[in-house]
Amino acid sequence: MDISQTAIRMAVAQSKKFNIEYQVADICTQTIGQPEKFDLCLDGRCLHGITRRNDRRAVLANVHRLLKPKGVFVLMSMCAPMERAALARQYPAQKILKNVIYYPRPQTETYSDTKTINGKEYFPARFLGHWESLLSELKRAGLQPSLIRFSRCLPEEPVSSLNVAAIKL
Ligand SMILES: C[S@@+](CC[C@H](N)C(=O)[O-])C[C@H]1O[C@@H](n2cnc3c(N)ncnc32)[C@H](O)[C@@H]1O
Repeated sequence: MDISQTAIRMAVAQSKKFNIEYQVADICTQTIGQPEKFDLCLDGRCLHGITRRNDRRAVLANVHRLLKPKGVFVLMSMCAPMERAALARQYPAQKILKNVIYYPRPQTETYSDTKTINGKEYFPARFLGHWESLLSELKRAGLQPSLIRFSRCLPEEPVSSLNVAAIKL
């Protein structure tokens, strides 16, 4: 599932050999599929693109609803800590406020939650919560982290990453 038709078209093209159903949908707002249908839900680097607290809660509530009891949620997410100076050098057009990375707003598009900094408009593109607070978000949603792999940021890889397998309680 992906909100972007382009992403779904690419996934379909890359997986013709397999019997996979795809859906264009917004994981934050839609009640997709049957409750307790899936043994496994995978988040392939989507959650770090969901920057609002309520939307993140909605994503994890959807995951919890879709999983069978004792089903597994695998999350792959960028997270904090981050090497802020290295990030600023690598991506000078971006701004970081608290744990949110903002990108310059393209003139042709509108976004909510934009910020104006030095007269230029930016939109929130990535939420990089501390890895321990991401684990707490999962627990609050009834998803108990079971296997955790955390890779700390380095100057050459300025954001940390978290891979977690969590079990639906
Ligand atoms: C970094 S890409 C990863 C794509 C793919 N999962 C992978 O692993 O290659 C993040 C994807 O999340 C999708 N996405 C962002 N917000 C979403 C939402 N609210 N609902 C569903 N998909 C969303 C984006 O369209 C984008 O394709």
